[in-house]
Amino acid sequence: MVTPAEPLGILTLRTPAEMTAWSLAARARGERIAFVPTMGALHEGHVTLLREARKLGEKLVLSIFVNPTQFGPNEDLARYPRDLAGDLAKAAGAGTDAAYVPEARDVYPAGYQTTVEVRELARGLCGPFRPGHFAGVATVVCKLFNAVRPDVAVFGEKDYQQLAIIRRMVVDLDMGIEIVGIPTVREADGLAMSSRNAYLSPVERARALSLSRALFAARDAAAGGAVAGADIVAQARAALDVDRTDYVELVDASTLQPTTDLARPTVLAIAAFIGRTRLIDNVRLA
Ligand code: PAJ
Repeated sequence: MVTPAEPLGILTLRTPAEMTAWSLAARARGERIAFVPTMGALHEGHVTLLREARKLGEKLVLSIFVNPTQFGPNEDLARYPRDLAGDLAKAAGAGTDAAYVPEARDVYPAGYQTTVEVRELARGLCGPFRPGHFAGVATVVCKLFNAVRPDVAVFGEKDYQQLAIIRRMVVDLDMGIEIVGIPTVREADGLAMSSRNAYLSPVERARALSLSRALFAARDAAAGGAVAGADIVAQARAALDVDRTDYVELVDASTLQPTTDLARPTVLAIAAFIGRTRLIDNVRLA
Protein backbone atom coordinates (compact mmCIF):
# COMPACT_ATOMS: atom_id res chain seq x y z
CA MET A 1 0.00 0.00 0.00
CA VAL A 2 1.26 3.49 -0.85
CA THR A 3 0.63 5.90 2.04
CA PRO A 4 1.31 9.58 1.48
CA ALA A 5 2.12 11.19 4.85
CA GLU A 6 -0.10 14.14 4.02
CA PRO A 7 1.21 17.02 6.12
CA LEU A 8 4.78 16.26 5.12
CA GLY A 9 4.37 15.77 1.39
CA ILE A 10 6.65 12.74 1.54
CA LEU A 11 5.53 9.39 0.23
CA THR A 12 6.15 6.31 2.41
CA LEU A 13 6.79 3.08 0.51
CA ARG A 14 6.75 -0.15 2.47
CA THR A 15 7.72 -3.06 0.22
CA PRO A 16 10.46 -3.64 -2.36
CA ALA A 17 7.80 -4.02 -5.07
CA GLU A 18 6.13 -0.68 -4.21
CA MET A 19 9.49 1.04 -4.08
CA THR A 20 10.63 -0.33 -7.43
CA ALA A 21 7.32 0.49 -9.14
CA TRP A 22 7.60 4.12 -7.98
CA SER A 23 11.22 4.36 -9.14
CA LEU A 24 10.61 2.77 -12.52
CA ALA A 25 7.77 5.25 -13.14
CA ALA A 26 10.09 8.17 -12.29
CA ARG A 27 12.85 6.76 -14.50
CA ALA A 28 10.38 6.30 -17.35
CA ARG A 29 9.73 10.05 -17.12
CA GLY A 30 13.46 10.57 -17.54
CA GLU A 31 13.97 11.58 -13.91
CA ARG A 32 17.27 10.89 -12.17
CA ILE A 33 16.94 9.25 -8.75
CA ALA A 34 19.27 10.15 -5.89
CA PHE A 35 19.28 7.87 -2.84
CA VAL A 36 20.42 8.09 0.80
CA PRO A 37 20.26 4.80 2.75
CA THR A 38 20.03 5.12 6.57
CA MET A 39 19.01 3.27 9.70
CA GLY A 40 16.95 6.25 10.86
CA ALA A 41 17.36 8.33 14.05
CA LEU A 42 18.33 11.06 11.64
CA HIS A 43 20.75 13.76 12.77
CA GLU A 44 22.40 16.67 11.00
CA GLY A 45 24.91 14.30 9.34
CA HIS A 46 22.10 12.40 7.62
CA VAL A 47 20.32 15.64 6.75
CA THR A 48 23.51 16.94 5.14
CA LEU A 49 23.63 13.80 2.99
CA LEU A 50 19.99 14.41 1.98
CA ARG A 51 20.68 18.06 1.10
CA GLU A 52 23.67 17.09 -1.05
CA ALA A 53 21.72 14.24 -2.69
CA ARG A 54 18.82 16.62 -3.38
CA LYS A 55 21.09 18.44 -5.86
CA LEU A 56 21.97 15.25 -7.72
CA GLY A 57 18.61 14.15 -9.11
CA GLU A 58 15.03 15.11 -9.88
CA LYS A 59 13.80 12.65 -7.25
CA LEU A 60 15.29 12.06 -3.78
CA VAL A 61 14.69 8.78 -1.93
CA LEU A 62 15.64 8.07 1.70
CA SER A 63 15.55 4.59 3.19
CA ILE A 64 15.08 3.89 6.87
CA PHE A 65 15.78 0.30 7.82
CA VAL A 66 17.53 -0.95 10.96
CA ASN A 67 19.16 -3.90 9.26
CA PRO A 68 19.34 -6.85 11.67
CA THR A 69 21.99 -8.74 9.70
CA GLN A 70 24.67 -6.09 10.29
CA PHE A 71 24.38 -6.27 14.10
CA GLY A 72 26.34 -8.86 16.09
CA PRO A 73 24.70 -10.90 18.88
CA ASN A 74 26.09 -8.57 21.58
CA GLU A 75 25.43 -5.34 19.70
CA ASP A 76 22.71 -2.72 20.07
CA LEU A 77 20.02 -3.89 17.58
CA ALA A 78 17.24 -4.01 20.20
CA ARG A 79 18.03 -0.59 21.68
CA TYR A 80 19.00 1.17 18.43
CA PRO A 81 17.19 4.57 18.52
CA ARG A 82 13.99 4.75 16.44
CA ASP A 83 11.92 7.87 15.63
CA LEU A 84 10.00 7.43 12.37
CA ALA A 85 7.77 10.51 12.71
CA GLY A 86 10.73 12.75 13.55
CA ASP A 87 12.77 11.22 10.73
CA LEU A 88 10.06 11.82 8.13
CA ALA A 89 9.70 15.44 9.23
CA LYS A 90 13.47 16.02 8.91
CA ALA A 91 13.57 14.24 5.55
CA ALA A 92 10.67 16.31 4.24
CA GLY A 93 12.49 19.46 5.38
CA ALA A 94 15.48 18.41 3.29
CA GLY A 95 13.31 17.96 0.19
CA THR A 96 12.93 14.17 0.20
CA ASP A 97 10.27 12.86 -2.18
CA ALA A 98 9.91 9.29 -0.94
CA ALA A 99 10.88 7.31 2.14
CA TYR A 100 11.41 3.57 1.71
CA VAL A 101 10.65 2.02 5.11
CA PRO A 102 10.47 -1.75 4.70
CA GLU A 103 9.83 -4.40 7.36
CA ALA A 104 12.51 -7.03 7.99
CA ARG A 105 10.14 -9.78 6.80
CA ASP A 106 9.86 -8.07 3.40
CA VAL A 107 13.61 -7.51 3.08
CA TYR A 108 14.46 -11.06 4.23
CA PRO A 109 11.51 -13.27 3.31
CA ALA A 110 11.28 -16.85 4.55
CA GLY A 111 13.95 -18.99 2.92
CA TYR A 112 16.34 -16.07 2.38
CA GLN A 113 19.91 -17.34 1.77
CA THR A 114 21.97 -14.92 -0.33
CA THR A 115 24.93 -12.82 0.88
CA VAL A 116 27.17 -10.24 -0.81
CA GLU A 117 30.72 -10.19 0.54
CA VAL A 118 33.45 -7.73 -0.35
CA ARG A 119 36.41 -9.68 0.95
CA GLU A 120 39.69 -7.75 1.20
CA LEU A 121 38.31 -4.36 2.21
CA ALA A 122 36.30 -5.96 5.02
CA ARG A 123 39.30 -7.76 6.56
CA GLY A 124 40.88 -4.92 8.56
CA LEU A 125 39.71 -2.05 10.80
CA CYS A 126 36.18 -2.88 12.06
CA GLY A 127 36.13 -6.26 10.24
CA PRO A 128 37.68 -8.51 12.91
CA PHE A 129 35.74 -6.80 15.71
CA ARG A 130 32.36 -7.07 14.01
CA PRO A 131 32.26 -10.49 12.29
CA GLY A 132 29.66 -10.56 9.54
CA HIS A 133 28.95 -6.83 9.83
CA PHE A 134 30.18 -5.78 6.40
CA ALA A 135 28.57 -8.75 4.68
CA GLY A 136 25.33 -7.59 6.30
CA VAL A 137 25.94 -4.03 5.09
CA ALA A 138 26.93 -4.98 1.53
CA THR A 139 23.98 -7.36 1.22
CA VAL A 140 21.39 -4.90 2.47
CA VAL A 141 22.80 -2.02 0.40
CA CYS A 142 22.71 -4.27 -2.68
CA LYS A 143 19.08 -5.09 -1.88
CA LEU A 144 18.21 -1.44 -1.24
CA PHE A 145 19.81 -0.53 -4.58
CA ASN A 146 17.74 -3.21 -6.31
CA ALA A 147 14.52 -1.91 -4.73
CA VAL A 148 15.27 1.79 -5.27
CA ARG A 149 17.10 1.61 -8.64
CA PRO A 150 19.00 4.86 -7.97
CA ASP A 151 21.25 6.66 -10.43
CA VAL A 152 23.36 8.05 -7.61
CA ALA A 153 23.68 7.14 -3.92
CA VAL A 154 25.24 9.24 -1.17
CA PHE A 155 27.21 7.91 1.82
CA GLY A 156 29.19 9.50 4.67
CA GLU A 157 32.96 9.36 5.09
CA LYS A 158 32.21 8.94 8.81
CA ASP A 159 31.89 5.23 7.96
CA TYR A 160 34.99 5.23 5.79
CA GLN A 161 35.39 1.46 5.50
CA GLN A 162 31.69 1.04 4.64
CA LEU A 163 32.01 3.67 1.88
CA ALA A 164 35.08 1.91 0.43
CA ILE A 165 33.23 -1.43 0.47
CA ILE A 166 30.15 -0.01 -1.26
CA ARG A 167 32.30 1.63 -3.95
CA ARG A 168 34.02 -1.72 -4.56
CA MET A 169 30.75 -3.66 -4.65
CA VAL A 170 29.23 -1.30 -7.22
CA VAL A 171 32.24 -1.74 -9.51
CA ASP A 172 32.58 -5.49 -8.94
CA LEU A 173 28.88 -6.21 -9.54
CA ASP A 174 28.46 -3.80 -12.51
CA MET A 175 25.74 -1.89 -10.69
CA GLY A 176 26.26 1.30 -12.68
CA ILE A 177 25.35 3.50 -9.70
CA GLU A 178 27.38 6.63 -8.96
CA ILE A 179 28.61 6.67 -5.35
CA VAL A 180 29.20 10.07 -3.73
CA GLY A 181 31.06 10.40 -0.39
CA ILE A 182 30.34 13.32 1.96
CA PRO A 183 32.83 14.57 4.61
CA THR A 184 31.98 13.80 8.23
CA VAL A 185 29.55 16.27 9.80
CA ARG A 186 30.60 17.24 13.34
CA GLU A 187 29.16 18.97 16.38
CA ALA A 188 30.56 22.46 17.02
CA ASP A 189 33.19 20.99 19.37
CA GLY A 190 34.35 18.37 16.86
CA LEU A 191 32.46 15.22 17.94
CA ALA A 192 31.41 13.28 14.84
CA MET A 193 27.61 13.13 14.68
CA SER A 194 26.26 9.64 15.22
CA SER A 195 22.93 8.10 16.17
CA ARG A 196 24.89 6.29 18.90
CA ASN A 197 25.87 9.59 20.58
CA ALA A 198 22.34 9.46 22.07
CA TYR A 199 23.59 6.65 24.35
CA LEU A 200 26.26 8.86 25.98
CA SER A 201 25.80 10.42 29.43
CA PRO A 202 27.12 14.00 29.77
CA VAL A 203 30.36 12.71 31.31
CA GLU A 204 30.76 10.11 28.54
CA ARG A 205 29.96 12.77 25.93
CA ALA A 206 32.88 14.85 27.24
CA ARG A 207 35.22 11.84 27.07
CA ALA A 208 34.02 10.98 23.55
CA LEU A 209 35.50 14.27 22.40
CA SER A 210 38.94 12.73 22.85
CA LEU A 211 38.45 10.78 19.59
CA SER A 212 38.14 13.83 17.33
CA ARG A 213 40.74 15.73 19.37
CA ALA A 214 43.25 12.90 18.98
CA LEU A 215 42.55 12.71 15.23
CA PHE A 216 42.82 16.47 14.66
CA ALA A 217 46.04 16.70 16.70
CA ALA A 218 47.53 13.86 14.65
CA ARG A 219 46.42 15.46 11.40
CA ASP A 220 47.96 18.80 12.36
CA ALA A 221 51.18 17.17 13.51
CA ALA A 222 51.41 15.18 10.27
CA ALA A 223 50.71 18.26 8.13
CA GLY A 224 53.44 20.19 9.95
CA GLY A 225 55.88 17.31 9.57
CA ALA A 226 56.03 17.09 13.38
CA VAL A 227 55.36 13.36 13.54
CA ALA A 228 56.50 10.37 11.52
CA GLY A 229 53.99 7.89 10.12
CA ALA A 230 55.42 5.22 12.39
CA ASP A 231 54.71 7.29 15.53
CA ILE A 232 51.34 8.76 14.68
CA VAL A 233 49.28 5.85 15.97
CA ALA A 234 50.98 5.83 19.37
CA GLN A 235 50.52 9.58 19.65
CA ALA A 236 46.81 9.40 18.83
CA ARG A 237 46.31 6.45 21.17
CA ALA A 238 47.91 8.38 24.04
CA ALA A 239 45.45 11.25 23.54
CA LEU A 240 42.36 9.03 23.97
CA ASP A 241 40.23 9.04 27.12
CA VAL A 242 38.25 5.87 26.47
CA ASP A 243 37.50 2.59 28.23
CA ARG A 244 38.72 0.32 25.45
CA THR A 245 40.00 0.69 21.91
CA ASP A 246 39.22 -1.79 19.15
CA TYR A 247 41.85 -0.09 17.00
CA VAL A 248 43.79 3.06 16.25
CA GLU A 249 45.18 2.59 12.75
CA LEU A 250 46.81 4.47 9.91
CA VAL A 251 45.70 2.94 6.61
CA ASP A 252 46.06 3.59 2.90
CA ALA A 253 43.03 5.64 1.80
CA SER A 254 42.18 3.28 -1.09
CA THR A 255 43.24 -0.20 -0.04
CA LEU A 256 42.68 0.25 3.73
CA GLN A 257 45.93 -1.67 4.28
CA PRO A 258 48.01 -0.52 7.30
CA THR A 259 50.76 1.91 6.32
CA THR A 260 53.30 4.33 7.80
CA ASP A 261 53.82 6.22 4.55
CA LEU A 262 52.46 9.73 5.00
CA ALA A 263 53.51 10.70 1.47
CA ARG A 264 50.50 8.78 0.13
CA PRO A 265 46.82 9.51 0.86
CA THR A 266 46.09 7.93 4.24
CA VAL A 267 43.30 7.74 6.80
CA LEU A 268 43.77 7.62 10.55
CA ALA A 269 40.86 5.67 12.00
CA ILE A 270 39.71 4.93 15.56
CA ALA A 271 37.11 2.60 17.04
CA ALA A 272 36.74 2.85 20.81
CA PHE A 273 34.29 2.22 23.62
CA ILE A 274 33.10 4.80 26.11
CA GLY A 275 31.20 2.66 28.58
CA ARG A 276 29.03 0.34 26.47
CA THR A 277 28.96 2.69 23.49
CA ARG A 278 31.20 1.93 20.54
CA LEU A 279 32.24 5.02 18.58
CA ILE A 280 34.18 5.33 15.33
CA ASP A 281 35.83 8.34 13.74
CA ASN A 282 38.52 9.03 11.14
CA VAL A 283 40.41 11.80 9.37
CA ARG A 284 42.20 12.00 6.05
CA LEU A 285 45.86 12.89 6.56
CA ALA A 286 46.78 13.64 2.96
P1 PAJ B 1 23.52 5.03 9.33
O1 PAJ B 1 24.46 4.78 10.45
O2 PAJ B 1 22.12 5.49 9.65
O3 PAJ B 1 24.18 6.06 8.35
C1 PAJ B 1 23.54 6.41 7.14
C2 PAJ B 1 24.51 7.25 6.33
O4 PAJ B 1 24.80 8.45 7.03
C3 PAJ B 1 25.86 6.54 6.10
O5 PAJ B 1 26.29 6.79 4.77
C4 PAJ B 1 26.76 7.22 7.11
O6 PAJ B 1 28.13 7.21 6.75
C5 PAJ B 1 26.19 8.62 7.09
N1 PAJ B 1 26.57 9.37 8.30
C6 PAJ B 1 26.36 9.02 9.58
N2 PAJ B 1 26.90 9.94 10.42
C7 PAJ B 1 27.45 10.90 9.63
C8 PAJ B 1 28.17 12.11 9.87
N3 PAJ B 1 28.42 12.52 11.11
N4 PAJ B 1 28.61 12.82 8.82
C9 PAJ B 1 28.38 12.39 7.54
N5 PAJ B 1 27.71 11.26 7.24
C10 PAJ B 1 27.25 10.53 8.27
O7 PAJ B 1 25.47 3.49 7.69
C11 PAJ B 1 24.36 3.00 7.87
O8 PAJ B 1 23.33 3.68 8.46
C12 PAJ B 1 24.01 1.59 7.43
O9 PAJ B 1 25.16 0.76 7.51
C13 PAJ B 1 23.42 1.50 6.00
C14 PAJ B 1 24.40 2.02 4.94
C15 PAJ B 1 22.10 2.30 5.93
C16 PAJ B 1 23.10 0.03 5.67
O10 PAJ B 1 22.24 -0.52 6.61
